[in-house]
Amino acid sequence: MTARIIGIGAYAPDQVVTNQDLTKFLDTNDAWIRERTGIGARHVSTSEGTSALATEAAKRAIADAGISPEEIEIVIVATSSPDRAFPSAAADVQGAIGAKHAVAFDITAACSGFIYALHIVQGFIQAGIYKTALIIGAYTLSKVLDWTDRSSCILFGDGAGAAVVRADETGVVKTLVGSDGTKNDVLYCQARSLENCLTGGKPELGFMQMDGQEVFKFAVKKVPEIVNAILEETGTDREAVQHYLLHQANIRILEAASRRLKVPMDKIPVNIERYGNTSAASIPILLDEMHRDGRLKRGDTLVMAGFGAGLTWGAALMTW
Ligand code: ACO
Repeated sequence: MTARIIGIGAYAPDQVVTNQDLTKFLDTNDAWIRERTGIGARHVSTSEGTSALATEAAKRAIADAGISPEEIEIVIVATSSPDRAFPSAAADVQGAIGAKHAVAFDITAACSGFIYALHIVQGFIQAGIYKTALIIGAYTLSKVLDWTDRSSCILFGDGAGAAVVRADETGVVKTLVGSDGTKNDVLYCQARSLENCLTGGKPELGFMQMDGQEVFKFAVKKVPEIVNAILEETGTDREAVQHYLLHQANIRILEAASRRLKVPMDKIPVNIERYGNTSAASIPILLDEMHRDGRLKRGDTLVMAGFGAGLTWGAALMTW
């Protein structure tokens, strides 16, 4: 048995912030952002938290799968911007959707989170522990961005994407994940200070810090590397893959991956223009769009690949 995605859903908050909107308070311009990143706009949540976005995406995925929430045995939310330190966003979702038989927890793997979650449920399904899972990538990064830092805040947007995954004969062929904690300072966000307030420490929330060029160099090397590895390890011809769904971080990273992999851009779908980088939500949001507009056909072979803070990376090859 393997994991198969049987339902997919996505949700982004209503408020859209265009590049032009950013120029009202930031020394930037639409041309620079489009040329360097491919981003034209992003969704920004003003009232909903990560759990609310995750819950809405989950409800849509469950409706798409045509199952009852009570059939779900495990809920995993991949996020680094939960509404609270605890309980988990997954616990909020589990309660809100009525998945009363499910165990629920979060994972932190930044933009690789959706692939990590798929990797985890694949293991549970192969081991025969669970049959039906709900995995969600959900982020409200707008709340941890430094909106005065033009080199990072222009990149990100809020959103959530969810998938119902069930044990089946076909589906995921292989997942491959990795981490390099020696590069943990390339992209990070300080959490609440662990200094004890009783001894004079002041709890503070930090903003995201990013060495953009280091992340860029890492991504253009790592994405082709893991895609090639998963093709090789599964004995799959690159031409046999219909769609390469790569984490939507920057159009130039996607174009570099296309050149290095010798895969044409028409096999690498792009929606970054409308969403920006939604971290672990970017791949399931893309899956949802392609499922709804008919680009994904049952039986298609897909490769998904993500990378992010940690540093982390992950890829999956599967039959849709
Ligand atoms: N508008 C206008 N000018 C800007 C902006 C902006 N928003 N941001 C930076 N600049 C300026 C810089 O100040 C610099 O000016 P200078 O030459 O006078 O010093 C110039 O533009 C070039 O800056 P660079 O940093 O060299 O620009 P670069 O081409 O490297 O692009 C970028 C920066 C877009 C951040 C790029 O490095 C990138 O996309 N990196 C990857 C980031 C990423 O994907 N992060 C997410 C990872 S996934 C996760 O885990 C969340």
